[in-house]
Amino acid sequence: MAAVIVALLLFFFCARSPSLSTVVSRDHDPTAARRLPDIIIIGVRKGGTRALLEMLNLHSDVVAAQSEVHFFDWDSHYLRGVDWYVSQMPLARPGQLTVEKTPAYFTSARVPERIRRMNPDTRLLLIVREPTERLLSDYTQVFHNRLEKHKQQQMLETLLMHDGELNLDYKALNRSLYHLHMRRWLDVFPRSHIHLVDGDALIRNPLPEMKKVEEFLHLEPQINASNFYFNQTKGFFCLRDRRRERCLHGSKGRQHPRIAPEILRKLYDFFHEPNQEFFQLVGRTFDWN
Ligand code: A3P
Repeated sequence: MAAVIVALLLFFFCARSPSLSTVVSRDHDPTAARRLPDIIIIGVRKGGTRALLEMLNLHSDVVAAQSEVHFFDWDSHYLRGVDWYVSQMPLARPGQLTVEKTPAYFTSARVPERIRRMNPDTRLLLIVREPTERLLSDYTQVFHNRLEKHKQQQMLETLLMHDGELNLDYKALNRSLYHLHMRRWLDVFPRSHIHLVDGDALIRNPLPEMKKVEEFLHLEPQINASNFYFNQTKGFFCLRDRRRERCLHGSKGRQHPRIAPEILRKLYDFFHEPNQEFFQLVGRTFDWN
């Protein structure tokens, strides 16, 4: 009788939880473990960091932390220690590389040294985008955040201009001064540890940029043209792997505000010199006006 009851219970349990066995077996993969990241996408905010993370995650030898961890830039997280940081990482099988992305790292003064102390061999990815376009994207992000929180909106012109001059204290403008932030990273890490991804090129045609990333990380070449398809409605490339096709979230690839041509000109002129300094620092150029 007892055997019949146990058999019935097992039958109902299994019938009601068809996915349980797969979840259990994956969680119990004895070779998988959470580890410190081998790769960190350090920024830049609105450079295309999510696209880069998702595209890298197409590779079977890479596993990605899905949310931004903010370990090195938020003291409240940093003080929790390395064990807490590891607990935020995904399970990785031996041979797989773990990647996390927190775009705020790039502009946060304490972060380079903290990462070096954790592991001086960490491989760093920085995705940059034409600075004026990045600034507009940054403003648009804040605009939408404020909208969601029912906060009063601020006009871009008001934030950007003071007495007819560009406001250098505007955070979105400062974040586009890549040379200032890059200098701090190069004080701590050799140039060879930081791979630069061209965010504008990644938007236009992701594959060549991703091949360069694979090469930098010494990954077996795997990402290929079939991993990408252009979605006319979204106006961006979307991703395809064996399991599914997907585009990035609607918050990626938003319309930017229109801006008066004279302010736009001022911005392009303003960024010209800092861009040259950045090119000098990193030993390469980008196709920015
Ligand atoms: P916009 O929304 O201003 O166009 P981040 O992930 O660092 O916040 O960067 C967001 C930016 O990634 C977007 O800025 C978008 O231009 C860019 N991006 C790059 N490749 C993309 C893709 N395949 N789909 C959507 N957005 C992409």
